[in-house]
Amino acid sequence: MIDFLKETALMAGALVKAGRERLSADAIHAKGTPTDMVTDIDREVEKFIVTRVRERYPDHGFIGEEYGASAAEREYCWIIDPIDGTTSFIHDFPFYAVSIAIYRNGKPFAGAVFAPAMNEFFLAESGKGAFLNGRAIHVSGCAKLGESLLGTGFVCVRAGIKPDNFDYLPAIAYATQGFRRCGAASLGLCYVAAGRFEAYWELLLNIYDIAAGALIVQEAGGQVTDLRGGGAYPAKGILASNGLIHEPMLDFFREKK
Ligand code: IPD
Ligand code: CA
Ligand code: CA
Repeated sequence: MIDFLKETALMAGALVKAGRERLSADAIHAKGTPTDMVTDIDREVEKFIVTRVRERYPDHGFIGEEYGASAAEREYCWIIDPIDGTTSFIHDFPFYAVSIAIYRNGKPFAGAVFAPAMNEFFLAESGKGAFLNGRAIHVSGCAKLGESLLGTGFVCVRAGIKPDNFDYLPAIAYATQGFRRCGAASLGLCYVAAGRFEAYWELLLNIYDIAAGALIVQEAGGQVTDLRGGGAYPAKGILASNGLIHEPMLDFFREKK
């Protein structure tokens, strides 16, 4: 099943890449709000993944961003974000990825995140470690906020929730080497796993944004919680870190709530 996951993510990534080359204005649409974007390619790629998995594993369930859930209570459930980072994709900013997780009995079993424009393929299987393009990866050993580079995102702005990430950001930016906003939560998480970021946080995400990336962080030796240190992520926000700066990061969020 892991080989099949790998192949499926690679094929989906190739479709995303080819889709980027032929992307036209009439294939770009607004979803819930005028700045929440989707393209025909997002839909095509999710259909491709679901159809392929269904042919091979007819008794598996699905949760996908574009077409929702179907038989998600089955033993195996595929959690799919066909393009994480659609806004980046539309603007040809290369930080977008196909994110696919497999849950078994409600628990993460495997995860793949493939960024086709950068040819980076992240993979993890529960209990077996995390890999980037076939090489084992590990979270960073940096224990100091002042030496940390962080990743974040701003879906909270689109959702209009308060306090939003701009309320937390100044204190975090002053205390660290800064932050990057690459526009794909799945990749932000993978960058924690690869030791590029010491931590990634976001206030509000959906399971399909983080299911694969969170497992990849854990399998790389990192820690994933909600913004209060509990397990209710992503509903109560998500903080993924190398473990060493997890507590000091949580303090930034505790102070506001
Ligand atoms: C978005 C990306 C982005 C994050 C947003 C997500 P989408 O996913 O992960 O980084 O800030 O919260 O919604 O809509 O491009 O699949
Ligand atoms: Ca997403
Ligand atoms: Ca998406």
